[in-house]
Amino acid sequence: MGAILVFSPDRAEADAYRRLVADALPGEEVLWSSDLADAAGKIAAAEILLGWRFPPGLLGHGSRLRWIHKVSAGVEDVVAAPDLPSGLRLTRTGGEVIAQRMVEYVLGAIFATTQRFHRAFRQAQESRWESYPVRRARGMTAGVAGLGDIGRSIARGLNANGMTVDGWRRSQGPVDAPLRRLHVGHAALLDFASACDFIVSVLPATRETDHVFSAGVFQAMRATAVLINVGRGNSVDEQALISAVRTRQIAGAFLDVVSEEPLPPENPLWRVENIVITPHVSGPIVPEEVFPDFLENYARFRDGRELLKEIDLNRGY
Ligand SMILES: NC(=O)c1ccc[n+]([C@@H]2O[C@H](COP(=O)([O-])OP(=O)(O)OC[C@H]3O[C@@H](n4cnc5c(N)ncnc54)[C@H](OP(=O)(O)O)[C@@H]3O)[C@@H](O)[C@H]2O)c1
Repeated sequence: MGAILVFSPDRAEADAYRRLVADALPGEEVLWSSDLADAAGKIAAAEILLGWRFPPGLLGHGSRLRWIHKVSAGVEDVVAAPDLPSGLRLTRTGGEVIAQRMVEYVLGAIFATTQRFHRAFRQAQESRWESYPVRRARGMTAGVAGLGDIGRSIARGLNANGMTVDGWRRSQGPVDAPLRRLHVGHAALLDFASACDFIVSVLPATRETDHVFSAGVFQAMRATAVLINVGRGNSVDEQALISAVRTRQIAGAFLDVVSEEPLPPENPLWRVENIVITPHVSGPIVPEEVFPDFLENYARFRDGRELLKEIDLNRGY
C-alpha cells in the first residue's frame, strides 16, 4: 500500500487536509506538500493524491499513483494535464456539498437585478433619493444550463421562489428537478435561450462547452435577460458578451467565473456597465465540508467497490 499525498498550494489548507486524513485514517502514511519542488519528490511514493490546484509538471512524477481525488467540483485541469499517468482514476467532491452556497449566489444576483440594486448603489454614491419601479422574480422564467447536482439544486431554489424553470443539458432522460421543460443538446440551445428572463450556467469546462454562450445565443436572448455564470468561464464568448451588453441585446451579466482567472485589470469585462464580476466565490471549498466525500471513496477504493463522482476522462466531466 502506497502513501496518501495531500497537496494544496496554500500551506495552511494543505495542513488542514493532512490533519483530517491523519485523524480519520491513522494507519495510513500521509505525506503533504504545498509546492512543486517538494511535492515532486514525494509523489513518487504516493498511491493516492488528495487536493487541488496541482502545479503543472507534478502529475507526471506520480508513477505509482492509482487514484486522484480533487476536492473541488471542477476537474478540467487534471483531465487536460499532458502528463496525467494512464490508468489513473479521478474523482471529485460531489456538487451537492457546494450547491446550497451557489443557490444563494444565484438568488442574490436575480434579486439584485429585479430590485435594481445597481441603480440604488449609483444613486447612493450621489446621495440622490429618486424612486423607481422594481420588479418581482416570482413568475419570471429562469433557465439552468447544466443539470448536475448543482444545477438541479439551483433549479429547486428558483422554483421555491416562484420562478418557472427550464433546463438545458447534454442528454435526454428524467431530471430530479421541478422543470417546466428540458431542452437537450445544441440543437435546442436557441429555443432554451429565448424562453428565459435569466440564464444560469452551471456547465463544466470541456471541449464541448467552449463558447456555448456565443453571439448567436445572445441574439436569441430577450433584451431584458441576464446571464449568470457560476460554472466555468470557457462557456462564455466574452467578446460577444461585452458587445451584447453594450448594444443592449441583453440586459447584463453576473460572472463568478471568467476565461482568465484572476481577471487582469486591463480586461474590458471590468468596465462594462451591468456586468458584475465576482472573484470565483460562489462555491468555496471548505476542507471539513468536502472531506467526507474523500473518506467515502477511500473506503470504496480499498474495498475495490465503485467510486462515487468518478470522472469519465473521455467526456471530461
Ligand atoms: N463557481 C464556483 O465556485 C463553482 C463551484 C463548484 C462547481 N463549479 C462548476 O460547476 C460545474 C458543475 O458542477 P456539478 O457538480 O453540477 O457537475 P455535474 O454533476 O458533472 O453536471 C454537469 C452538467 O452539465 C451538463 N453538460 C456537460 N456538458 C454539456 C454539454 N456539452 N452540453 C450541455 N450540457 C452539458 C451535464 O449534462 P448531462 O446531465 O446530460 O450529463 C450535467 O447536467 C463544475 O464542473 C464546476 O466547473 C463552480
